[in-house]
Amino acid sequence: MTQDELKKQSALAALDYIEGGIIGVGTGSTVNHFIDGLATIKHRIDGAVSSSEVSSARLRQHGITVYDLNDVGQLSVYVDGADEANDRLQLIKGGGGALTREKIVAAASAKFVCIADASKRVAVLGSFPLPVEVIPMARSYVARQLVQLGGTPVWREGFISDNGNPILDIHGLAVHDPVALEQQINQIVGVVTVGLFAQRPADVLLLGAAGGVETIT
Ligand code: 5RP
Repeated sequence: MTQDELKKQSALAALDYIEGGIIGVGTGSTVNHFIDGLATIKHRIDGAVSSSEVSSARLRQHGITVYDLNDVGQLSVYVDGADEANDRLQLIKGGGGALTREKIVAAASAKFVCIADASKRVAVLGSFPLPVEVIPMARSYVARQLVQLGGTPVWREGFISDNGNPILDIHGLAVHDPVALEQQINQIVGVVTVGLFAQRPADVLLLGAAGGVETIT
């Protein structure tokens, strides 16, 4: 099976977690498969809150109502992909640049179901460059602070998030204490969001593999 077929397998497995109401929907190629699958059971939900303009457009194309998070209460479930996941269901996310809205929608959801192909599973987070969204005027200042943490921040040139901000990708980190690093980076003035999902990890990880979907809780 190709990596994309494995992504699709995990995405379709997440449909079993949809119980109705308004759900949270993330961003990325795995989530695109989920949205396409969601369209087949859209009569079961009232709509969605999305973590990006791209996902909102895909949801609307399928006739699924997209709500502003401010207009709804707690979401029952959030389905999103990841760039890396460890066995404690802590994640690196933000390869697609949607990390800030992803973290907000995850925080507003009772359950976070993460979907990915099995290649995303790692023993130690950090081989995938860790994204950090920053306030534009603070980009260089934050980069200097990140160097002091032992990483090599690289400006994602030419990219601006849906919130109008640049992103730094930190290379060369081995994240042995994800909760502590998330807190440390959050404390740097000018940081909007770090793409470590450790303080609020996923609740369920669905990994697509050749032998089927593995469920980790
Ligand atoms: C976007 C994300 C994505 O969930 C992550 O990059 C995984 O993407 P894909 O499903 O395309 O592999 O965090 O900001």
